[in-house]
Amino acid sequence: MANKKEKTTTKTVKKLPKVTVEKKKKVLLVGSECAPFIATGGLADVLGSLPNALAKRDNYEVSVIIPLYSNIKEEWRKLFKFEGCFNIYLSWREQYVGVFSFERENVKYYFIDNEYYFKRDGNIYGFLDDGERFAFFSKAVIEVIQKFDLYPDVLHCNDWQTAPLIIYLKSMYYKNEYLRRIKTVFTIHNIEYQGKFGTDTYGDLFGFDDKDFSCIELDGAVNLMKGAIEMTDVLSTVSETYAKEIRNPYFAHGLSDIINRNAYKLQGILNGIDVNYYNPKLDNYIFNKYDENSLEGKAICKENLQKMLGLNVKKEVPIIAIISRLVSHKGLDLIKEVFDEILADDVQLVVLGKGDKEYENFFTEKAKNYQGKCSVIIEYNQDLSRKIYSGADIFLMPSKMEPCGLSQMIASRYGTVPIVRETGGLNDSIKAFTGERGNGFTFANYNAHDMLYVIREAIRTYHDKEVWVNLIKTVMTTDFSWNLQAEKYEKLYKD
Ligand code: GLC
Repeated sequence: MANKKEKTTTKTVKKLPKVTVEKKKKVLLVGSECAPFIATGGLADVLGSLPNALAKRDNYEVSVIIPLYSNIKEEWRKLFKFEGCFNIYLSWREQYVGVFSFERENVKYYFIDNEYYFKRDGNIYGFLDDGERFAFFSKAVIEVIQKFDLYPDVLHCNDWQTAPLIIYLKSMYYKNEYLRRIKTVFTIHNIEYQGKFGTDTYGDLFGFDDKDFSCIELDGAVNLMKGAIEMTDVLSTVSETYAKEIRNPYFAHGLSDIINRNAYKLQGILNGIDVNYYNPKLDNYIFNKYDENSLEGKAICKENLQKMLGLNVKKEVPIIAIISRLVSHKGLDLIKEVFDEILADDVQLVVLGKGDKEYENFFTEKAKNYQGKCSVIIEYNQDLSRKIYSGADIFLMPSKMEPCGLSQMIASRYGTVPIVRETGGLNDSIKAFTGERGNGFTFANYNAHDMLYVIREAIRTYHDKEVWVNLIKTVMTTDFSWNLQAEKYEKLYKD
């Protein structure tokens, strides 16, 4: 009898096809801005495109959480779905948390609502209570994970605004066995901004545990980025060169010892860009669409740009463009130093961006002396930036420090040849043109005349039409997509 039964069972099992349903792993990315909802810098571009690239690969279920700033436009907000609300404690403060969601291209976005913290005029940062605002956000994310059963395998945090999230998770919430299983990645997009606050905020505001003080404190201040670097499972930054640079005090803004101590878990992965969003063949912002095989279209963009900006309409004069936040680490002092020497050549210069008054005033004043040759627009303007990326010939980005830099990649997509200093991601994305190989012009030392030398070399090359057209083609077809880079992130999550 027993035998018979066994036989039957074996038979039945044999007939059934073996189906193994492998559950997809989950990654949750958290940050303080994300395009297209809210963007002030490169972080928004990364959080607006890496998740989609990951979702497309289909190995992870991908979600993103950001604050629901009042600056997020109504056209988006009206699409968001209310998921629920509850209260949380930040130290002794009881605060409301509202949760909204939105799904797009297989990525699920969550928005944390609290008007006391996120309904502000103008900017999204730069308020006296920024520490409190992002500590609240971090705490809210942990509660949302629990209340909405999101429990990711990997929690990927970005920059100091999400550093408290790693600290809370690895300390106060560590007793929770579900939360304890979550592995964390902390990505540094710029080590200059660390989230430093007086030590009086330690318990009263952040509600951190006394036992972690030595881990979070640095030079007599609470340093959120330091705490996250120490506690995270994996540390990453946005290019291989920057990963090396931040081990050096010159680049590390006081964190080099901490980085060196944690170097065993540090990796550099170059950012990608959304190559469909930045594509002269599809771009509705630009005067005329084109690709690497129809460069006449780029010439039309140039002519229209010259007309629009009041530049002399001259086909054969190269336009050098600068599109940048006007702040010191972008290398603007080099440009200031040799400005007149650059303009002494038969070139045109276009500057778009805003930032420190010192640079805004310098460029605005200079433009007055070079009418028809130089145009300066003190604005952050997406529409105009595309018209410049497409209409210019050369893109100048001589940064003193540049963790990754995206503009050199965007310019490349539009066939505008980059000149960069060999630092951070600029060094990893642009290789010097040697006549045959290379996708731009580069210089190593932070020196104005070294920069001037390569600008002149670029101008000389520009006048050799055959060589220049080939260079444009190489530049336009260099792969700056997320494809390879997303694979690297997947590998990092897996490890
Ligand atoms: C920061 C860095 C920039 C990088 C961006 C995205 O803004 O300064 O170099 O491209 O983050 O990672």
